[in-house]
Amino acid sequence: MKDIIAIIGAGNMGAAFYRGMREHMMRVRLNVCDRNREKLEGLDADHAYTDPAKAIANTDVVLLAVKPQSATELLAYLSGGLAGRLVISVMAGVSLDSMKSMTRSAAVIRAMPNLPAREGRGLTGWIASSGVTAKQRALARELFLAVGREIEVDDETMMDAITALSGSGPAYFCLIAELLASKAIKEGFTEAQAALIARETLIGSAMLLDSNSETPSHLRAAVASKGGTTEAALRALGESGLDAIFFDAIDRAIARSRELNI
Ligand SMILES: NC(=O)c1ccc[n+]([C@@H]2O[C@H](COP(=O)([O-])OP(=O)(O)OC[C@H]3O[C@@H](n4cnc5c(N)ncnc54)[C@H](OP(=O)(O)O)[C@@H]3O)[C@@H](O)[C@H]2O)c1
Repeated sequence: MKDIIAIIGAGNMGAAFYRGMREHMMRVRLNVCDRNREKLEGLDADHAYTDPAKAIANTDVVLLAVKPQSATELLAYLSGGLAGRLVISVMAGVSLDSMKSMTRSAAVIRAMPNLPAREGRGLTGWIASSGVTAKQRALARELFLAVGREIEVDDETMMDAITALSGSGPAYFCLIAELLASKAIKEGFTEAQAALIARETLIGSAMLLDSNSETPSHLRAAVASKGGTTEAALRALGESGLDAIFFDAIDRAIARSRELNI
């Protein structure tokens, strides 16, 4: 018999997981649920529900992909219906202990994916409660691999770090793209040209990293020849204390993640 997995919430994350799992986990039946019918229509799903209680019936695994502020109402409505199932939450900042008490399930997984999951290139950091069996753990890993790569951690405080690093990470790279584009405009390029310069430079660099076995620092050295223009820019960034600024920014994200944990 097929494993049945329900996804509750078909927004950014739920839809990304639905699409990835539909492509890579053909042996499972997927139920997808959202209270907004139009989000379900966009997914062209075989088993779509607006009522979470119906979506979780007969399931082995439930992926919670709603905002943390929607979780209390949702879990009160399901009132114990998740007990005995593996519950995987991608909700930022909701601890394993809170999940266990809210879902009344001993088998819970806390995961932090990132937005490139939409392209099948996400990175998910995750941790399992002690009640998760080896078989459930393997299934969860498969689910994360359906939208990219995964890192399992064994200390829950690492979830704050992964939130700040890869969870927020896409925003840092998009900021670099915005800065490149705005400088291109200052140098006289049109908006369209500036956007092209920013996007292609970032995407091209990411593709080099992807296709090459070289490290970022090797690739950087390949661009920055001695006494050249890139070296001048990199030296200026170093003299301005970019490392310290960047590490401080990530420390603040880690601290904010700790503050938001429930
Ligand atoms: N977006 C990211 O980059 C990212 C990265 C890592 C983790 N996450 C986590 O992923 C979770 C989902 O984020 P998201 O950006 O995908 O949110 P989202 O786009 O708002 O999607 C959540 C969906 O769930 C629906 N929903 C809420 N309560 C429901 C209920 N009781 N029954 C059925 N559907 C319900 C929402 O409907 P309404 O709009 O009507 O409430 C919405 O359509 C969050 O907890 C977030 O912390 C997000």
